Amino acid sequence: MTDEPLPENSAPASPDATGEKKHRRRVRYSGKNPRRFDQKYKEHNPEKYGDTVAKVLASGKTPAGTHRSIMVAEILHVLAPKPREVAVDCTLGFGGHAREILKSLQPGGKLIGVDADPVELPKTEARLRELGFGPETFITKRSNFAGLRQVLTELHLEGADVILADLGLSSMQIDDPARGFSTKFEGPLDMRMNPQRGQPASAFLEKISVEALTTLLLENADEPRAQKIAPLLAGKKFSTTKELSNTIAAALPQLGKDECTLSIRRVFQAIRIAVNDEFSALDTFLRNLPFCLNPNGRVAILTFHSGEDRRVKKAFEAGRRDGFYSEIADEVIRPTSEERRDNPRSSPAKLRWAKKT
Ligand SMILES: C[S@@+](CC[C@H](N)C(=O)[O-])C[C@H]1O[C@@H](n2cnc3c(N)ncnc32)[C@H](O)[C@@H]1O
Repeated sequence: MTDEPLPENSAPASPDATGEKKHRRRVRYSGKNPRRFDQKYKEHNPEKYGDTVAKVLASGKTPAGTHRSIMVAEILHVLAPKPREVAVDCTLGFGGHAREILKSLQPGGKLIGVDADPVELPKTEARLRELGFGPETFITKRSNFAGLRQVLTELHLEGADVILADLGLSSMQIDDPARGFSTKFEGPLDMRMNPQRGQPASAFLEKISVEALTTLLLENADEPRAQKIAPLLAGKKFSTTKELSNTIAAALPQLGKDECTLSIRRVFQAIRIAVNDEFSALDTFLRNLPFCLNPNGRVAILTFHSGEDRRVKKAFEAGRRDGFYSEIADEVIRPTSEERRDNPRSSPAKLRWAKKT
């Protein structure tokens, strides 16, 4: 059996009438390099194709099916995890931050890895188990981080010494067209972090009014052409990501390609935030945070746009005024220029931290 995935719609290899195994064909693509997520079978297999993965990383891209953790050194510095402490990674994702925190917690510490995504969570759990983190040390919970207090109660924990939230989506989610987040590749217009809950983006757009969508594009993504775009999307039926991005592009014929791409990305971001109710989850999380931290506990939050950063900044300032936090970050911490160059997806990141009294 080979490791290469079969081309789409092809049947799996199975014994034919003579009892012999049919030959599995290698994935075919035109050009020198694969473009589609499902064709990048080498990137999905870093153990076997290390050279290919190294080349992708060196070009500033993220290998398919993985995620490059952002500001790892800065996060470890502000969180300062120590042996025997309890940590919660509220956005486990690919587990890159969790892996580094877990190492610092040994011996005797444990990390609870929370994520809303039922598709990626088991894969990440398996990956970290393979690295030797057993169930005593590493526990996973499929949950929205708005329910962090409940998660701690269920685990009979009074609080955590270290809490991390790295907001938004992982590269695995963005790059997999089947999840419906990709602005570039065709996929069902879904955009749910948990595809088992709520409504997909297609149903959301079909029901929303022009006025509500205009407000949402402005509030969730500062989209300057909201009034022009909203009437073409609200109340309309879009089945795929491409149908949506083509309609946005058609609404903006006067724009150059780069400007148009930015608008498409902002519209996708605004709809994704609404479909996943991201701001209300963040507000609930920030409200509950002081009650989830042990005395002297540390929290770090990575945000990726102004709507998130504003909320974190205000909540930390209010927490300091009310005596919940003894110290907070006075300035945001940004990725170094090297990190921004090596991993352009880190560019908008802003890190803030707070320390419980
Ligand atoms: C940027 S990724 C985290 C990457 C991770 N820090 C790493 O190093 O691999 C964000 C993750 O948070 C999850 N997520 C986003 N909002 C969430 C929420 N409200 N509750 C739980 N998980 C959430 C997403 O499903 C995604 O897996």
